Amino acid sequence: MKNDDTLMHVRGTSQFVDDIPVPGCLHAVLFTSPVAKGLIRSLDVSKAAAAPGVAAVYTHKDVPGLNQVGHVFKDQPLLAVDAVEYIGQPIALVVADCRRNAKKALKLIAADIEKLEPMLDPRAAAAAGQLHGKKRVQTHGDPDAAFAGCKHVLEGRLASGPQEHFYFETQRALAVPGEHDTIKVYASAQSPGAFHHHLAEVLGIPMHKVELDIRRLGGGFGGKESTAVWIVAPAMAAFLLKRPVKLALERNDDIATTGKRHAYEYDYRLGLDAEGNILAYDITLYQHAGACADISTAVLGRSFLHVCGSYRIPNIRVTGLSCRTNIPPNNAFRGFGVPQGTFAIEAALSAAAHKLGLDPEALKRRNLLKDGDTLPYGVTLSGVNSERCWATLDAKAHIAERRAAVAAYNKAHKDTKKGLAAVPVCFGISFAQTALNQASSLVHIYVDGSVAVSTGAVEMGQGVNAKIRIVAARTLGVPLERVRVDTTNTSRIPNASPTSASTGADLNGMATKYACERLRGRLIAFAAGVLKADPSAVEIKDGEVLVSGKPAGLGWNKLAKDAQWARVDLGEHAFYATPDLHYDLEKEQGRPFAYYAYGTSLTEVLLDCLRGTYTLEAVDVVQDVGESLSPEIDRGQTEGAVVQGMGWATMEQLRYAPDGRVLTGVSAYKVPDIKFLPAHFEITLLKDSSNPYAVCNSKAVGEPPFVHGIGAYLAVADALRAARPDREPPMLPLTPEKAFMHLHGPQAGDGK
Ligand code: MTE
Ligand code: MOS
Repeated sequence: MKNDDTLMHVRGTSQFVDDIPVPGCLHAVLFTSPVAKGLIRSLDVSKAAAAPGVAAVYTHKDVPGLNQVGHVFKDQPLLAVDAVEYIGQPIALVVADCRRNAKKALKLIAADIEKLEPMLDPRAAAAAGQLHGKKRVQTHGDPDAAFAGCKHVLEGRLASGPQEHFYFETQRALAVPGEHDTIKVYASAQSPGAFHHHLAEVLGIPMHKVELDIRRLGGGFGGKESTAVWIVAPAMAAFLLKRPVKLALERNDDIATTGKRHAYEYDYRLGLDAEGNILAYDITLYQHAGACADISTAVLGRSFLHVCGSYRIPNIRVTGLSCRTNIPPNNAFRGFGVPQGTFAIEAALSAAAHKLGLDPEALKRRNLLKDGDTLPYGVTLSGVNSERCWATLDAKAHIAERRAAVAAYNKAHKDTKKGLAAVPVCFGISFAQTALNQASSLVHIYVDGSVAVSTGAVEMGQGVNAKIRIVAARTLGVPLERVRVDTTNTSRIPNASPTSASTGADLNGMATKYACERLRGRLIAFAAGVLKADPSAVEIKDGEVLVSGKPAGLGWNKLAKDAQWARVDLGEHAFYATPDLHYDLEKEQGRPFAYYAYGTSLTEVLLDCLRGTYTLEAVDVVQDVGESLSPEIDRGQTEGAVVQGMGWATMEQLRYAPDGRVLTGVSAYKVPDIKFLPAHFEITLLKDSSNPYAVCNSKAVGEPPFVHGIGAYLAVADALRAARPDREPPMLPLTPEKAFMHLHGPQAGDGK
């Protein structure tokens, strides 16, 4: 079972927003702030408005409803009013007959902006009290007393870098006005419900006049979950002009002005006993959030809940700060803060092993979570698969032998060094915001027996539509070809939660299962009546009605037709809300996740000590996906997530100018390509794992394996330590340039 879109993608026939033909469509471009912080003294758009081909130029004064697209806090104007807080902040919207004319007109806008000193450092922002939301602190056990009793205490600073989403389809939307002030918007967006709401608020019309339709995304990776600007802006123009309007960011504008994965800085203290058991951990997270809160506090919350990684830490203090700085508001990116939270403990444990001369893998394994352990927020774990994943990996990759071989290699070689790293993953599944854990599904059976399913899930390449099809076909007892998953549309599915937090298939699949179960129940009752059989003996399988396991001569298509003629309802809507979730933000206690996805990986690299370059020689991954709905898709998701994680950990580096401008455009930002893939790359899905908390006993897979990417950082750092044990390795991303400076530079790397 492949992703529904696979064949169309490789043939280039899949339809994206830009492929929808709309005659007479106008094009919108944004006039954005050239400074990271400033006051708008004057703004004159009259020359631009009179330029050839220009239909209109809009400023905040033209917004018909609320000039606001803030996602969690109402702190993000659609178009700037009198101040700008980041380079790339939208100030005006130019609409013209073609993009070229719109771009020409941009140059005719006269903006007098008084420059102010921007805040670009998260630690300085924290010191100045410039935060989004409240500082979060959690204490579990007695960390101060525990540190006092530790044999070894390590402390230091760490940092992890930002990451550009690099979805192939940049931010875009197309808006088509209809009768009675209605509007239909086609968008590349992960959050149908929230964006639907933003659209109605900005246009000043009720939500029932706005229809948001999403066919598929050319990648989202979290970057299309929370920032509504690029969807709402063309809709506003279409609404005011009563003509279709499209907005599509050019690649370099997308890189320069959209949010990224948050960079983090960390202060840590880690306390161990003589045997290497973790006794205490004190960790402060400084999240580089940007000018508006966007979804940063939620991302920080998830980092906060994952600072233990896969380890048992009896005494802990966690402090989390979302630091307000003058860069474009950062947002969700695959892992949603978990990679950043996990990075700190992994880097700290590696540093500890190195300093204390312990075997890093033995140190990690002895501290692995097991059943009965309690996480700092009060959840006592059961069904923990950390040790099983580790053991499965060990059986395949022979961890201790590999460590010995690396040590022997390093002893024998001076100009090249090898590095090894094992990374266990424990990833909580559910939106940490309890309210979002809901979904609905609308299932139609037509009289020809074909089935259409609508849910709030957004297909962005992860294969959620294929999984929903599988669930529907299995539950109804029909062949897969009979089921089609329709677009994600707010007129069919209202108030849908975002497709994120890896819960798309879990939530929407479960709602689909419920709807199909009810339809199946009605059809079985009807068939039993027709066949004069006991309903408990009737089932539907592979499109045939069976009585006591034998074909009854009634096929699915005829069943649907006859049932409709007998006035049986062939449509169903069902709703699912994940049970037993709660979280108390005051106490920092609760049950935020329905279950956990586990995994373990081993990464081996070869470092060229002359050049600082390295190659990934082998990556073995064991991932726990429960009873996989589709092993092929889950393997693909695991592979993609691991590679994206390795890119973040090693080569993807954004550079900023002193004034806050992003310097790395498309030509300078390196993402992993086919040559970057490890020579040996093996993914194993954990056997005999079941999960009562998600649809058909499956487990979420979209994000958890991203965390294995940290192994690439740790393995390169391990090789660097072998080459220069006198220096602390550079921080993530560990680019070849940083490795080179670490090996040969005048002082230890740049610390970041
Ligand atoms: N896979 C592809 N091909 N493209 C994407 O944009 N997004 C990831 C992941 N896998 C993404 C992807 C992210 S960030 C999430 S949260 C999950 O898919 C969401 O999908 P799911 O909940 O249906 O797994
Ligand atoms: Mo994924 S970052 O939760 O969209």
